[in-house]
Amino acid sequence: MKVLVIGSGGREHAIVKSLKKSSRITEIFCAPGNAGIGQDAALVPIKPMEFDKLAEFALNEKIDFTIVGMDDPLVGGIVDVFEEKGLRVFGPRKNAAILEGSKAFSKDLMKKYGIPTAAYETFTDANKAEAYLKTAKLPIVLKADGLALGKGVLICNTLEEAQDGVKEIMLDKKFGEAGTKLVVEEFMTGREVSVLTFCDGKTIRPMTSAQDHKRALDGDQGLNTGGMGTFSPSPFYTQEIADFCQKNIFEPTVAAMAKEGRPFKGIIFFGLMLTQEGPKVLEYNARFGDPEAQVVLPRMKNDLLEVMEACVDGKLDQIELQFEDNAAVCVILASKGYPVSYEKGFPITGLEKFDNKNDYFCFHAGTAVKDGKLVTGGGRVLGVTATGETLERAREKAYEATKWVSFDNKYMRNDIGKAISEA
Ligand code: AMP
Ligand code: GLY
Repeated sequence: MKVLVIGSGGREHAIVKSLKKSSRITEIFCAPGNAGIGQDAALVPIKPMEFDKLAEFALNEKIDFTIVGMDDPLVGGIVDVFEEKGLRVFGPRKNAAILEGSKAFSKDLMKKYGIPTAAYETFTDANKAEAYLKTAKLPIVLKADGLALGKGVLICNTLEEAQDGVKEIMLDKKFGEAGTKLVVEEFMTGREVSVLTFCDGKTIRPMTSAQDHKRALDGDQGLNTGGMGTFSPSPFYTQEIADFCQKNIFEPTVAAMAKEGRPFKGIIFFGLMLTQEGPKVLEYNARFGDPEAQVVLPRMKNDLLEVMEACVDGKLDQIELQFEDNAAVCVILASKGYPVSYEKGFPITGLEKFDNKNDYFCFHAGTAVKDGKLVTGGGRVLGVTATGETLERAREKAYEATKWVSFDNKYMRNDIGKAISEA
């Protein structure tokens, strides 16, 4: 089979590497991919939002199966365009990807179907939002309704901060049209857990749990980033909590989407907060997490293609997901200055030690080739992942492997999975 993956980050590299283990695949393409993905797949220079060009490529190349890794094309309706042309494609249609595309939609859905989440109000008028804030309890959370590269969430400790936030999101349009609507949400406290699930429209199967570290600096300080590292599984996500989530969050979400005439096929990523009152949904995403995929997929025993095909064909009930009884840690090697400003184009060395099969994986996020040499090409450059019998062992191995890699302005957090493995 010929398979096309759409996207260009560490997540897509992890997807491609997992697909390489599938004996039924003869050729993997990735659009547009990156320098590292180019060592595992044939790169296709078409951008993820060029739906017609991508579909034309898939038709001409006789691609049997396409996997969409990123949120923007999913929310924009790429799956509908592919399906209209008779192409097999993994991911939610536009009317289901709205679960990630609109926070107001997802909050209303949870409220209607009794799925636990933070209390909230939605506003389209900045004056009304500001008036409401005067009566609200602090801290308070402001969320731009639409996609904002994971940056449209502001946690405000004072009324002034909240008022400034409303101005930034709704009037100055800091996150563009994503800020036309505003969700104002109760602040929750607790441990965060990411649970990625496969869905076929009716059945939902959770993968092993993970946790992301979103802030740029050690000790969860500094600015929010796309994610500086992950570990899997989360020791706080016990069997009891998993059972609660399956019954009260995962199954009700898939059932609710089906009932609304928006059957969800693909990945639902549940961002959960384990609060004193029980697990609650922080957010939904309609795709694998990045860098959650980099710790979850290396632990998965199933053939990824087979599971994805079962989702598309509505046969996920016939699949049991299986994960290794081990742990994984991914440390992001970034360019110093990320997520604000940073230089790129520095040569990268030391990647030959990674086996990329069993213990040590190097997933490329922002890399490029210049004059025949591998160079840094983005803020998040590489995701160094190691597996081990325990979280502590995986962590030691991942940090050992980060020392193999050299490039100018290399920056990483030193505490990925640390507080947890010591807890
Ligand atoms: P999101 O993009 O919705 O995942 O939000 C980004 C981050 O903001 C989350 O990972 C949480 O750390 C934090 N966050 C979002 N919503 C809330 C909330 N209601 N209470 C506390 N923290 C939140
Ligand atoms: N790691 C968080 C995300 O992919 O949204």
